[in-house]
Amino acid sequence: MGKRILLIISGGIAAYKALELVRLLRKDGITVRAVLTDAAQQFVTPLSLGTLTEDNVYTDLFDLKDEREIGHIQLSRQADLVVVAPATANILAKMAGGIADDLATTLLLATDKPVLAAPAMNVRMWLHPATQRNIAQLRANGVTIMEPDDGDMACGEYGPGRLPEPQAILGSIRAMLAAPLGEAQTATARFGQNPPPLRGKHVLITAGPTHEPIDPVRYIANRSSGKQGFAIAGAIAALGAEVTLVAGPVTLATPPGVRRVNVETAREMAEAVEAALPADAAVMVAAVADWRAEATGQKIKKDKGGLDALPLVENPDILAGLAKSPKRPGLVVGFAAETEKVVEHAQAKLARKGCDWIVANDVSGDVMGGARNRIHIVSAAGVEDWPDMEKDAVARRLAQRIADELTD
Ligand code: C5P
Repeated sequence: MGKRILLIISGGIAAYKALELVRLLRKDGITVRAVLTDAAQQFVTPLSLGTLTEDNVYTDLFDLKDEREIGHIQLSRQADLVVVAPATANILAKMAGGIADDLATTLLLATDKPVLAAPAMNVRMWLHPATQRNIAQLRANGVTIMEPDDGDMACGEYGPGRLPEPQAILGSIRAMLAAPLGEAQTATARFGQNPPPLRGKHVLITAGPTHEPIDPVRYIANRSSGKQGFAIAGAIAALGAEVTLVAGPVTLATPPGVRRVNVETAREMAEAVEAALPADAAVMVAAVADWRAEATGQKIKKDKGGLDALPLVENPDILAGLAKSPKRPGLVVGFAAETEKVVEHAQAKLARKGCDWIVANDVSGDVMGGARNRIHIVSAAGVEDWPDMEKDAVARRLAQRIADELTD
């Protein structure tokens, strides 16, 4: 049987492009049932849409005739895929919050089918922390959200927020209808027929703590969980890059599509980083121990003086070494965990380490091991202050920022 789409059109100027999308879908042999929000009816009429879909167009939650013929729960489940295009900031916010106050949002809450959303809105609305939070929430809920296009907008501004072209939305729909959803396929769906932005790039990432042995049973360590670095590795892989993740001792699962190299000590990490070169970018998230002990072969005994004197030797600075290396990646990003004067210390670190960006975070709260993070990107160009976000959202935004830098 042919594939069926439930197309939800929300109200923005880009709604007119939904007509072209319906035409392309029909040409592809896909059956389309359309739902219009109240606002969408200001831009396209049920008549023009119904003519193209050759079906009823649904607009009203309380339409008795429609409800008797086909209940709204049924409507949300008869399709193979639910597509929201264009998806306004408003409908994305309602979806993220589980609000069901009209037919479109009720169907979205009641559906048990995969959902694809193609956002379209003003650039400021797209970049607003509230929208970015909703997008992160929806992605965590399993909704596939396409990246909006960059360009001139109907409102006269320029930037990301334009509805992806109908051809690109068709590509995403085809990708989602073709097979059960996997991570790679989600990437195809997100970027439509455009290649993912980091395809062909190699990105090297370090994450987690290092363990520096004192004797065969003891080691020096720190509280790094590896969560932020692993999330960044996953987000960069999802943008199509080849990712090498040099991981200190953590028990986190390897993100899909990532090549992982496990290490224990700073010296092993330095060797693994060197071996992974060349790379187009390096993101050094690991909390490398600054010092290591002169490890002994035997367990240190309490009664023989114990740890009264534990001579420490400075570890290699992997980030500074990489920034000076003849094989230096084009973009070298360091992290700085600070508890005070966060930006000031990060600026000093940028100069000292010779890297391009320092991503500074304030770890005076429960950042280490916690789920949220608030960062500042410090570079020669200035300081970007990002709002407090989930570590996954930080990772995705940072991955996009790196993609923009590498593809400029
Ligand atoms: O000097 P500090 O440890 O605060 O710098 C943090 C940054 O330097 C992080 O990006 C970390 O991965 C990197 N680093 C390193 N090698 C070290 C110490 C830190 O690569 N020995």
